[in-house]
Amino acid sequence: MSQTKATPKIDQLLSGLKIATGSLRESLREAQAASAAAPPPRVMKSRGDIVSALMCEVERRYGIAPGEQVERKLVRIFEAMTFEELERWSQSLFSPYAIEAEWLSLVENLTVHETYFDRDKEQLSVLSTEILPRLIEKKHLSGDYRIRIWSAGCSSGEETYNLTILALMALRDAGFALERSDGSIVPVPTWSLYVLGSDISSQMIRIAKSGIYSTGEMGSFRSTNTQLWKFFDERTWLNETASGGRSLQVKRCISSLTGFRRHNLMDMMVEATAFDLVVCRNVLIYFDRNKKKVLENLCRPLAPGGGTLILGATDVMLDQQGVERRQSNGNFWYEKA
Ligand SMILES: C[S@@+](CC[C@H](N)C(=O)[O-])C[C@H]1O[C@@H](n2cnc3c(N)ncnc32)[C@H](O)[C@@H]1O
Repeated sequence: MSQTKATPKIDQLLSGLKIATGSLRESLREAQAASAAAPPPRVMKSRGDIVSALMCEVERRYGIAPGEQVERKLVRIFEAMTFEELERWSQSLFSPYAIEAEWLSLVENLTVHETYFDRDKEQLSVLSTEILPRLIEKKHLSGDYRIRIWSAGCSSGEETYNLTILALMALRDAGFALERSDGSIVPVPTWSLYVLGSDISSQMIRIAKSGIYSTGEMGSFRSTNTQLWKFFDERTWLNETASGGRSLQVKRCISSLTGFRRHNLMDMMVEATAFDLVVCRNVLIYFDRNKKKVLENLCRPLAPGGGTLILGATDVMLDQQGVERRQSNGNFWYEKA
């Protein structure tokens, strides 16, 4: 009886809550739009003016530094447009009602998504033989059996799956993961592994989530050693790819421990638990003025007391990021103090 009386009240409460969350969402959207609003449309008299204005705004939003290469790409993209079309389109981009997706599709064309499995083998070898075994031992001693890795600027996901495979093999070698007869490896129940891949490009994230890669000559497996192959299944119905290779899909034991998300490195990665390892290779080349901010965003989510950051072999760390440099055989990495 008391239940039936209570129902309308609950309904009222629920509908009130719905309105409250609705208007909250609305204000949030407005706040986001306001913060993303570009400077007011300026007078752009030439293609050069438009290209410069777009490069500045791309840098403000995504950190990507203007330069000759970016300029050349923009000029090529705009070749097919008349000046009037280009002016109208750029005005719409600079309007406060511009859609983020428009900017993102422009950025897709300004960045290079080149990546492949086993890229920079020496670095990965130090990871397998030194960094991961040490991390696993530390975790074992502390009783915190969760390993969390972030592959930042992962492009189509090869680096991310590579990290999952290497971490699983290190867990197996330490006795904390089991290898089955079909070659798959699974952590023992007390241990967990999660590897997150992120990139600004939604197109790349879509490919990464599919976990399907081609074996063509310049494809994802161009530099792969044989131990990686067993973590892939042949896709029989997609056997012949455009590049002439076969099409392989990452096995479930790997993909179930790997997630992907679109994320702008100019923003802080908000995660409930810190990362034990952050890998960001061949991405910092895009940033100039914003490199410090991006490095801060990479270092902040590192686990205190040894969280490790690996940059590309030619990337340079800036001072005052609260990390200490380590090295082995000419390979560098950084640990949070
Ligand atoms: C050359 S790929 C590197 C892929 C992989 N890390 C590797 O080393 O093989 C560089 C990636 O950085 C991404 N990127 C560029 N600016 C970014 C930003 N502001 N936020 C996130 N990712 C970005 C690009 O979309 C591109 O996929």
